[in-house]
Amino acid sequence: MLDAGMDKLISLKEFTDASNGYLVNDDCVVGAEVFVCKEKRAAKAEFLSMSYYSFTYKHVWNVENFSKLDAKLDSEPFTVGNKKWKIVLHPKGESHGKGTHISLFLALAEPEILPPRSKTCAEFSLRIVYPMNSKTNHCQKGTTRKG
Ligand SMILES: *[C@@H]1O[C@H](CO)[C@@H](O)[C@H](O)[C@H]1NC(C)=O
Repeated sequence: MLDAGMDKLISLKEFTDASNGYLVNDDCVVGAEVFVCKEKRAAKAEFLSMSYYSFTYKHVWNVENFSKLDAKLDSEPFTVGNKKWKIVLHPKGESHGKGTHISLFLALAEPEILPPRSKTCAEFSLRIVYPMNSKTNHCQKGTTRKG
C-alpha cells in the first residue's frame, strides 16, 4: 500500500460552510502527524509507547484558493525517518467520498527509490486545522505499511 488515509474526511457541505471556520478566504490548513516505526519489529507491549517510534514529525500545510483546485493536490514533500512523505488532498473527493467529501491521504513522495521488498511502517493522523486557532477536528488515525 503506497498511501493511506480517508476518502470521507469531512463533507464538502460542512467544510465549505463559512460558519464552521475551516475555509477562510478560500484558504484552509491541513495538518499531518507522522510516526515512523523502528526498523526492527517491536514487542507488542512496546507498540503503544512512544519508544516504539524512532521518528515523529508534524507537518502543517496551507492550502490556498481551495475553490480553484483541480481534482488532486500534493503537499510539498517532507522528510520523516529518511523517507519523503507528502499529503495528498482531493478537494472534490476520491473513491467513496467522490463529489460529496474531502479526501486526504498520506503517501510516500518518492516510492520508486525504496529498495524492493522494503517495509515502511508508520502511524499517522491527518486533520483539517482551524486556521484561526489550534482547535482541531476530523482527525484520522491510521497505520500504513508498505512491502
Ligand atoms: C490564489 O489566487 C490569487 C488571486 O487569484 C492569486 O494571486 C494567488 O497567486 C493564488 N495563490 C496560489 C497559491 O495559487
